[in-house]
Amino acid sequence: MAMSLLQHSFTAWQTVGMTDDAVTRNANRSTTPQNSAFHTYISGNWADTPALDPTQREQGSWCARRRDVLSAAFEGNTVVLPAGPMISRSYDTFHPYRAHSAFSYYTGWGSDTVPDSVLVLTPNGDGHDATVFFRFPAGRGTQEFYSNADIGEFWVGPRPTPEHVAAELGVATRSLSDFDELLQQADSNWVILREADVAITTELDGRRGAGDTRDAELAQFQSEQRLVKDEFEIAEIRRAIAATAQGFDDVLSSMGEVRAHPRGERLIEGTFNRRARADGNFVGYETIAAAGANACYLHWTRNDGPVRDGDLVLMDAGVEVESLYTADITRTFPVSGTFSETQRLVYEAVREAADAAFSIVKPGIIFRDVHAAAMAVIARHVAEWGFLPVTLAESLGDEGQHHRRYMIHGTSHHLGLDVHDCPQARREFYKDGVVLEGMVFTIEPGLYFQIDDLTVPEHFRGIGVRIEDNILVTANGAENMSSSIPRTADAVEAWVTRLS
Ligand code: GLY
Ligand code: MN
Ligand code: MN
Repeated sequence: MAMSLLQHSFTAWQTVGMTDDAVTRNANRSTTPQNSAFHTYISGNWADTPALDPTQREQGSWCARRRDVLSAAFEGNTVVLPAGPMISRSYDTFHPYRAHSAFSYYTGWGSDTVPDSVLVLTPNGDGHDATVFFRFPAGRGTQEFYSNADIGEFWVGPRPTPEHVAAELGVATRSLSDFDELLQQADSNWVILREADVAITTELDGRRGAGDTRDAELAQFQSEQRLVKDEFEIAEIRRAIAATAQGFDDVLSSMGEVRAHPRGERLIEGTFNRRARADGNFVGYETIAAAGANACYLHWTRNDGPVRDGDLVLMDAGVEVESLYTADITRTFPVSGTFSETQRLVYEAVREAADAAFSIVKPGIIFRDVHAAAMAVIARHVAEWGFLPVTLAESLGDEGQHHRRYMIHGTSHHLGLDVHDCPQARREFYKDGVVLEGMVFTIEPGLYFQIDDLTVPEHFRGIGVRIEDNILVTANGAENMSSSIPRTADAVEAWVTRLS
């Protein structure tokens, strides 16, 4: 039988870190009664929490395998992978909580992670034992329950029981206060993912020092392990892409309203993000909704411009699903449903670059060659259009690269739990690395002619195009996982017209 919340009667204030502050932070305006009669009254007469019968999540067995790989690499070390704290957005209001990706990778705990949780792998002589330390339900007899606005269950909703989390994730669970005690005994064998929780890292450094550790190796190892996706991850990315495709359709279906609003870009963002919240956890990154010349700003997230007939809209957006995997897709479409001649010329050049990059992808190639394949097409087109002050060959050489003025960003990055996934992987496994079956990355060439760029004719200025797809490397080649979202100029026009 599941334990009732009342059985977890931890005392008030039995929390770590910033959450202790929640009760005193707003003492000047708190109306919470402080007398013991009230405390007794609010603590009692609650029904038992209904017993649930949790089953292990599908990711449980995958995460166990991932932990085995990590365990073998860190034999004899106590490995600490924090989920991280809540991050203040403004004084006592917080950004939506998002666990560190490495924590989710090794635990399978996604959007419903209890903030401040920590995965610890403890050496057991034959590998490691995995334990998730988290803040158990405090119990209704505690002040935390009703007076802590950050974490009190009266305020933010119930936390799961240790039995529940243990069953769903397939790991042992212990309370966060136990982790605090364990941390006091840390020695030089402890390793931590430093960036995930600064407070825990600082505390640990105080115990074992910060110099001679394997911390950097851990950051690198988990990034490199995540380069090749397992079946569960690929399925989750597919789900993220499907929801993202739906979000793009939602936007195209709302273009009448978008065109009529002085900040139509914001309506695009809102419409897409609505889908992300409804069908997923959130967006995987800030939605880029860029109309007209704003499309030339590569990460335009201000999204406060109008959307006019005659404009192209560049929309770069991705739904992050509950397991925290995200899509990262860009489409550029004409608001009117028809590309102008110059817009179409630029659009199809970018598509040709994307297709050229895609055509070389298979296991065994070098990752940076994907970028080179796209750039060869981009450079050829801007040379043909007469924009380069040097020959095509000179521009493609290391001492040239003039064509990069019109596409300054890279063509590809790995994709998974983080939109820019595996960022700490070494260069020899990332940019210079061999492409392997099971990798997922973007192909996203673009051309951007800024509104004030005097190197291009006036009719090119203010045109920005990017086409971004999510690519899975298969045994013999590659699959464009996002190909169901219209990509060719003709298909995009038909898509806009159909949904307008
Ligand atoms: N959305 C950011 C990127 O495409 O890398
Ligand atoms: Mn993108
Ligand atoms: Mn991208």
